Amino acid sequence: MANKEINVGLIGFGTIGSGVVETFNLNQPLIEDKVQRKVNLKKVVDLDIETDRGVKIDPKILSTDVNEILDDPDIDIVIELIGGYQPALKFILTAMSKGKHVVTANKALLAKHWEEIMEAAEKNQVRIGFEASVGGGIPLLKPLNESLAANKIEAIYGIINGTANYILTKMADEQQDFEEVLKEAQEKGYAEADPTFDIKGHDTAQKLIILTKLGFGVYVKQEKFHVEGITRITLDDIEYAKELGCCIKLLAISTIKDEELEVRVHPTMVDEKHLLASVNDVFNGVYIIGDVVGPVLMYGAGAGMMPTASAVVGDIIDIIEEMDSPITYGPPQTRVTKIKGMDEVESKYYLRLTVIDKPGVLHSISGILSYLNISVDSFSQKGHQKGEFVPIFMVTHQATEKNIQEAVKLIEKLDTVKGEVVFIRLL
Ligand code: HSE
Repeated sequence: MANKEINVGLIGFGTIGSGVVETFNLNQPLIEDKVQRKVNLKKVVDLDIETDRGVKIDPKILSTDVNEILDDPDIDIVIELIGGYQPALKFILTAMSKGKHVVTANKALLAKHWEEIMEAAEKNQVRIGFEASVGGGIPLLKPLNESLAANKIEAIYGIINGTANYILTKMADEQQDFEEVLKEAQEKGYAEADPTFDIKGHDTAQKLIILTKLGFGVYVKQEKFHVEGITRITLDDIEYAKELGCCIKLLAISTIKDEELEVRVHPTMVDEKHLLASVNDVFNGVYIIGDVVGPVLMYGAGAGMMPTASAVVGDIIDIIEEMDSPITYGPPQTRVTKIKGMDEVESKYYLRLTVIDKPGVLHSISGILSYLNISVDSFSQKGHQKGEFVPIFMVTHQATEKNIQEAVKLIEKLDTVKGEVVFIRLL
């Protein structure tokens, strides 16, 4: 091993940080063999260095002072695993300004401060690895950015939030209510500290921003696209989806047609025969279509201590192997000339409404639909009667989002319709 030793500093000794330490414990010789250098985990910093994480660590490398990493000229690579915006951003920018390469799993930070972080990396001629930020342990971003670089990416469809996927799978398999399953997901530790990030689609949106940049070369901020979570999905929706031969998934979608990009996150009815329908429980799956390769499915554990640590340490190896070569994230020239508004999206739609069970009700609903040029493909009134009210379900033919939104507003105003009209787009 002729080359210089590499020293790594880890900021954040939480779940994933402990996974990184354990990966070094398990596989340091293998890692060193691969890069043909000695690789030392020189310092691990956290505010709490007392709690036993259940992994073997030399107490001498533990510290509560982040400057022992940032100010150490011998540390080549800094791993940021504290999450959140600050002080994570400050630590990353400081590390870069001192010529250190960075590895992070922090999707929220990348999604919000992409440009600033990438500019700092370029200015300081350092690399940033963020494989762990989307899809946990799944090799996803490097294959998208490098192995598929000979393709024009046409579409990305991702199930990239384990918590939401777990909830939807459990609701479907065990006929459990949303709230009940959410509680279980929290107890099992899948959900984010604030589970609204998972169930309202924000975590998925942050990850989609990163996928969209790598796939299409454009950085689209979260405020610019439609993000809808799974909180309105009921067991009735799931049952009706089953009758249609579908399941409901929270999808992150980025597609391009005629140089116009659609970016959106929402619950989607997916045909049971589609590969994404078999991505269940806490697992993640990303289905990418390239013009040369065709469809590709990347599947695996999207979260968790050891899977995510696998991606973090993979990035370290990558950086060591390619330390001196420049890298671009996403195609350097984008084909996108316009990012489409949600209004312009076209899809088939599933609608669920609660109506008074009396003659003439359907007539007024179908009047609204036909006025807005929405044609109905199938209709059912099989749900559970609640007093004088009954749920009805319908699936439309292809319609525009603008017309559906308008129809929903008008239908909700009818005296014979109770509460909101829930709609789910079909893939
Ligand atoms: N809360 C996230 C999920 C963790 O459920 O997928 C990984 O980002």
